[in-house]
Amino acid sequence: MGQPHYFSDSPAGKHRPGVVSLRVGDLNVELATDGGVFAADEVDWGTRYLLAEAPRPPEHGPLLDLGCGYGAIAVALSRWAPRAPLWAVDVNPRALALCRANLDRHAAGNPAVVCRPEEVPADVRFAAIYSNPPIRIGKAALHDLLATWLDRLTHDGQAFLVVNKHLGSDSLARWLNEGGRPTTRLRSRRGYRILEVAAQTGDTQSESAL
Ligand SMILES: C[S@@+](CC[C@H](N)C(=O)[O-])C[C@H]1O[C@@H](n2cnc3c(N)ncnc32)[C@H](O)[C@@H]1O
Repeated sequence: MGQPHYFSDSPAGKHRPGVVSLRVGDLNVELATDGGVFAADEVDWGTRYLLAEAPRPPEHGPLLDLGCGYGAIAVALSRWAPRAPLWAVDVNPRALALCRANLDRHAAGNPAVVCRPEEVPADVRFAAIYSNPPIRIGKAALHDLLATWLDRLTHDGQAFLVVNKHLGSDSLARWLNEGGRPTTRLRSRRGYRILEVAAQTGDTQSESAL
């Protein structure tokens, strides 16, 4: 058997508690990390780029950090939209525990729920989704994951994704556009693309959304 990945349901990696700094704009916080979670030693460059360059979250939310890890994005969203209901989901229990702890310490008081994806009630819709998505789960699984959550944007909602070119950002953008989710490349640097994705347009909406 191979090593468990950071996106595994049961990370068996050794505990290696640590602290990383997240400095973006007016935000300067220390976040708890551990072994077996994404970017345990340093906040990912792509995540910082997303937070620095994507538009600030809509004031009233609800907001989603999809694949929250230890919560770098969730903490920033909370600080920048302190009244917005905030959801942060992940499948890695260690990441969820860290995200809860980091929000407890740094959040601005939003109603916040950190949970597994299937625990988000089916009727919750999001005004904005921010994600450094788990590309390494594979293309088919990633498409399923994104379709599931992008279908839950409000009609005027937007998602902001950071994806590296080497990990398929451009073909992902094509797939989103072809599926009726208008997608534009907002920024690009060091091979990282920030994709802005609008809710699915009427013609191509899935049967379930009708
Ligand atoms: C690239 S990491 C980003 C983590 C964090 N947002 C950050 O920027 O540091 C992707 C995250 O997605 C999580 N993930 C994997 N599969 C998932 C799924 N089906 N639903 C939600 N999150 C998932 C992984 O466990 C991982 O924490």
